[in-house]
Amino acid sequence: MELHISLDGHPTVVGAIYRGVLEAIRDGRIPGGRRLPPTRDLAVNLGVSRNSVASAYERLTAEGYLEARVGSGTYVRAAPPPRTTVTPRRPVHGLRPLAVWSRIPAGMPPMGSNPRFDFSVGMPDGELFPLATWRRLLSRELRVTNLDLGRYAAPSGVRPLRVAIARHAGASRAVRAVADDIIVTNGAQQALDLIGRVMVGPGDVVAVEEPGYPPARRVFESLGARVIGVGVDGEGLMVDALPARARLVYVTPSHQFPLGAVMSLARRRALLRWAQEAGATIVEDDYDSEYRYAARPLDPLQSLDPDGHTVYVGSFSKTLSPALRLGFVVAPEALRGPLQVARSLNDWHGNPITELALARFIEDGDLAAHLRRTTRVYAARRAALLDALSAWPPERLAVIPSMAGLHVAARLGAGVDAPTIAARAQAAGIAVRPISHFAANPATPDGLVLGFGVIDVERIGPGLQRLARLIDDSVGD
Ligand SMILES: Cc1ncc(COP(=O)(O)O)c(C=O)c1O
Repeated sequence: MELHISLDGHPTVVGAIYRGVLEAIRDGRIPGGRRLPPTRDLAVNLGVSRNSVASAYERLTAEGYLEARVGSGTYVRAAPPPRTTVTPRRPVHGLRPLAVWSRIPAGMPPMGSNPRFDFSVGMPDGELFPLATWRRLLSRELRVTNLDLGRYAAPSGVRPLRVAIARHAGASRAVRAVADDIIVTNGAQQALDLIGRVMVGPGDVVAVEEPGYPPARRVFESLGARVIGVGVDGEGLMVDALPARARLVYVTPSHQFPLGAVMSLARRRALLRWAQEAGATIVEDDYDSEYRYAARPLDPLQSLDPDGHTVYVGSFSKTLSPALRLGFVVAPEALRGPLQVARSLNDWHGNPITELALARFIEDGDLAAHLRRTTRVYAARRAALLDALSAWPPERLAVIPSMAGLHVAARLGAGVDAPTIAARAQAAGIAVRPISHFAANPATPDGLVLGFGVIDVERIGPGLQRLARLIDDSVGD
C-alpha cells in the first residue's frame, strides 16, 4: 500500500510518521482492517531509519489504532478508539477573521437535556407538526412539479408561495401586501440579515429593544453597526428614548420579545412619526403573533404606516417548525430589488420544493386548520400557566401582561436573583430562562421567561410549584 507521509512541520521524524499515519486513519484514507506497509518498506520510501517507523507504529499500537499480527504484519484496527483530541496544527499566519466575530457569541447556551419541566422559550411543540400532511405535500410536489430541476429558481421564492403568503398575512394579520412585495427567506433570521445588508453600513446606529432578541442584535453588530438598546415598558418600545441618529429600529410590537408587552396604538403611531421625521426604517418582527389569545389584535405597524418606512418580517418557525427555515419579508417598493439581489448573493434562493409544499398547505386551508388546532392546545397551556402563577403573591412574581405567542415573562420580587434561580431550576430539572439572558444592559430589571410551547398541560402546575419552592428558598441568598 502506498502511504504518503509528510515529514515537514514536526520536530521529530517519529512524531511526523505517527501523526501522518494517525491522520490517515482518522480521515478514513486507511480503512480498518487494512495492512500497513512493512516498516522496512516505509522507511526506504521516506528515507528514514527503520527504527523510526517501528517506534511510530508501536506508539499507535499502544494507543489502540493498530494491531501487530505475528508473522503477518501491522494492521489498522477495525474500530479505532474515539477521537478525544484534535490533531494540533500550527496557526496559519494571516488567517484572522474580523474582530467582530470574536465578540459575537455562538448561538444560545443549551437548556440542559430532557428537563422534566420544560419551560423553554421560543419553541413550538414538534409533536404538533402536521407530519402526515407535510409528507404528502412534499411527495406530491416531487411527483407533479413542473420546476425545471436543472435550473436555479427565483431569489424571492416561488410565485405560488408569495401569492399564498400575501393572502395569508393579509387575512390573518391585516398586512398590506401583494405577491410582488414578498421575499421568501430562510426564516426570520435570514430576513434580518438581508435587511441589515441592504440598510446598514459600518458605524450606522441601529436601535433594538432592551431586553430584546439577541440574534437580531447580533446580526446588526456583525455588519459593523453601533447597536443601541432602547428600554421597553408596558406599552412596548419607549419611542421617546430612541437615539436621534438611528437609521434602523428593530421591534416586536405584537409580543415584545422577551417581555411580552403589546405595543400600544399610541406608541405605534409615535414610532411611525418618529421614523418619518428621522428618515429611519422600522423592522417589524411579527414572529409569533398568529398565536393570540385576545379578541382583536392591534394593526401591525406595516399597515398603519402610510409612508412605507416599515419592513415586515414573518416566520413559520412557531406556526410550523423552526427546522423548515421558512420566513418572509414584506418589503416597501424601494427595498424590493436590493433585497432580492442580496438574497441571490447570499444563497441564490430557498428550496422550491419546500416552498411549493407550503404554498399548497396555505392555499388548501391546512395552515388555518393547523393554527386553529394548535392555538387550542397552546391556549390551554397558557391558561394553566397563568392560573398557577396567579396563586403567587405579586411581590414574589408579577406576570407581565401579554396577548400572544408561546411564552410569558414575570418580574421577580426584591432579593431574588433570576440567573441563580434559573441555574438552580435547571439543576432540579426545570428549564427556564432569566430575562437578563436576553438583555445587553446589566441594569435591565430581571425576572423569568416561561415558555409553554413544549410543556404538557399536566406538568405546568407541578413544575411551577417546584419553582416557587426554589424561589422561596433563595430569598435573601
Ligand atoms: C423575536 C423572534 N424573532 C424571530 C424568531 C424566529 O426566527 P426564525 O424564523 O429565524 O426561526 C424568533 C424565534 O424564537 C424570535 O423569538
